[in-house]
Amino acid sequence: MTASKPYAELRGRHILLGVSGGIAAYKSVELVRLLKKAGTDVQVLMTPDASRFITPLTLGTVSGRPVLTDIFPEAEDGSWTRHISLGRWADVFVIAPATAQTLAKMAGGFCDNILTATALAARCPLLVCPAMDEDMLVHPATQRNIDALCTYGHSVMPPTYGSLASGLVGQGRLPEPEEIMQRILEMIAADKGGADPAHRDLENIRVLVTAGPTREHVDPVRFLSNPSSGKMGFALAEAAARRGAAVTLICGPAHLDTPPHVERINVESAEEMHDAVMAHREANIVIMAAAVADYAPMERATQKIKKGSGNMVLHLRRTPDILYALQQRRAEGQLLVGFAMETSEGLENARKKLHDKNMDWIVLNMLTAESGFETETNRITLLNRNGHEEALPMMSKREAAEIILDRITSTSDRPAA
Ligand code: C5P
Repeated sequence: MTASKPYAELRGRHILLGVSGGIAAYKSVELVRLLKKAGTDVQVLMTPDASRFITPLTLGTVSGRPVLTDIFPEAEDGSWTRHISLGRWADVFVIAPATAQTLAKMAGGFCDNILTATALAARCPLLVCPAMDEDMLVHPATQRNIDALCTYGHSVMPPTYGSLASGLVGQGRLPEPEEIMQRILEMIAADKGGADPAHRDLENIRVLVTAGPTREHVDPVRFLSNPSSGKMGFALAEAAARRGAAVTLICGPAHLDTPPHVERINVESAEEMHDAVMAHREANIVIMAAAVADYAPMERATQKIKKGSGNMVLHLRRTPDILYALQQRRAEGQLLVGFAMETSEGLENARKKLHDKNMDWIVLNMLTAESGFETETNRITLLNRNGHEEALPMMSKREAAEIILDRITSTSDRPAA
């Protein structure tokens, strides 16, 4: 079978599809059909309850492989360890639909059926597609389970709004199989660090990203800083480069590998970051994800300050506001994106910063246990100068980076190359 053009990248890939017991299981037939048409090798796994909604015979016929429903099959060929080998065989493991029960098991590390056991063992990226009635979806337990899956680094595709099996209308529908296909395609492109030609939408665009903290030295062995890891900025740099942009990443001290095809400039203080940014201010898109220190010691002692018997007073000065300086000497058509990390009154503060620093977009990031410094996940709100405000669910920083790039390049005038 030849791969259909939009999904050519998927040809020859190994896809595991886990189907759990919800009414949306019927959509898995169409998903398998699309996956097969794209030239992938599909292995379907079903929970015991899934076969109440759709038969293994149907999915086995469409996928061309017997469906696995039992963690302990009859065969005495040692094949009960398939949940381990399958997790290594697959390029992506898609769980669609993922019921509230399957989400809860996965969040808790339970492995009592072939789907959950394979999910626990899998080394490949997981795409989890929850589908259920809205009342079950919004329950704090389900939301906590979804958040947990994100913190494990899995991708979670938010359910869509519409008619539900209960007859009610709300959020909880499984996204259409074409949308799930698109996500699988993105995950495969991201995982191989390669580029899907269809997504090289930033070709000929220069992108400047700042990331990480800055350090403001008191003396040679002490400094003022913050716990920023740089993960969000690095994810943005990586995603932009994958989409074809020429990316310069200016970062404060961050213990992260430089993403492929990214020019990295290491700096330490806000002053150094300011100078490096100004030297690259001709970029078409500037994304300031760095957590720049707002204050620095008035003086930096050349030798280690010896402790005395009493208190010590440290006099601080304001550091240069890089974003503010940049927008004052803004290059023609440049798109300026800032970040706001807040602990209270997030929206009010973000709106004010967007206006005061004359940015096109601001990404609000409220500091919580799963969102903010050093975490793998973020819960962000995107605001732009036209009044667009969009709160996104908890997701991995890599996914957040893709969405940020999608939004800033689609709803604004595309910057000139
Ligand atoms: O005002 P606040 O520091 O919260 O603004 C955050 C945004 O401004 C971030 O995008 C950050 O990178 C940038 N910033 C800057 N120069 C500073 C402080 C913050 O460019 N001195």
